[in-house]
Amino acid sequence: MTVTNLKGGSGKSTTTGLLAHAWAEAGRRVIAVDADPQGTLTRWAQDADWYIPVFGLATNKLHTELSGIVSPDRYDVAVVDTPPLELQRGIVYSAMRAATDVVVTLAPTSSEWDVLPKVWDALDEVEPLRSGQALVSVLWNRVRTNTTSAAVYREMLDESRRYSCRAVIPLAERYAQVIGAAVTFRAEDTAVVDAAAEIAGRGGW
Ligand SMILES: Nc1ncnc2c1ncn2[C@@H]1O[C@H](COP(=O)(O)OP(=O)(O)OP(=O)(O)O)[C@@H](O)[C@H]1O
Ligand SMILES: [Mg+2]
Repeated sequence: MTVTNLKGGSGKSTTTGLLAHAWAEAGRRVIAVDADPQGTLTRWAQDADWYIPVFGLATNKLHTELSGIVSPDRYDVAVVDTPPLELQRGIVYSAMRAATDVVVTLAPTSSEWDVLPKVWDALDEVEPLRSGQALVSVLWNRVRTNTTSAAVYREMLDESRRYSCRAVIPLAERYAQVIGAAVTFRAEDTAVVDAAAEIAGRGGW
């Protein structure tokens, strides 16, 4: 599963780390793959002493190399964190090619919405190079509670026949501070757990 978006700072690494832990806590054998030369996930795992293994693979050959590294006998889910598409097109295309499932993290704002077509273009370009179709889900992130922005953008997405997860990740201080810290889920973290279940359910895995 590859987490991607055009721009930097859209919440890719935060979301990748949270989802990886949600699946691991649900009993799946998870490996995280850090395809970002910035090494955010690698550092996070070291700082917080993750029990989930993280493998650094910031290369545009990820789609050919990953299967030799991540054996399906050992892992159920490989979660790939990517750099911003606009900065590292080669790596992100490769990570898109490798994925059965793609998650596009997005804040419900006009600036993020406006660049979304570039992500669809990239996915369309990669599509003929893949063996099967990837399942693409938008995951709304940094959603202010008691606002309707995510619902409004979701409707617009539905009209363009793109899928967005029903579960949305709220804008919250504990997520703003989570990179570098241990990931533990509290009762109020249902959105993350629900999003993980929804994405897996959609993919049938
Ligand atoms: N749900 C959230 N609530 C509050 N802050 C968030 C949330 N998700 C992400 N952030 C904050 O937004 C910023 C960007 O997040 P993150 O580093 O995950 O983005 P990114 O897309 O991986 O960035 P880059 O493209 O540089 O790798 C960080 O400061 C992070 O703490
Ligand atoms: Mg990142």
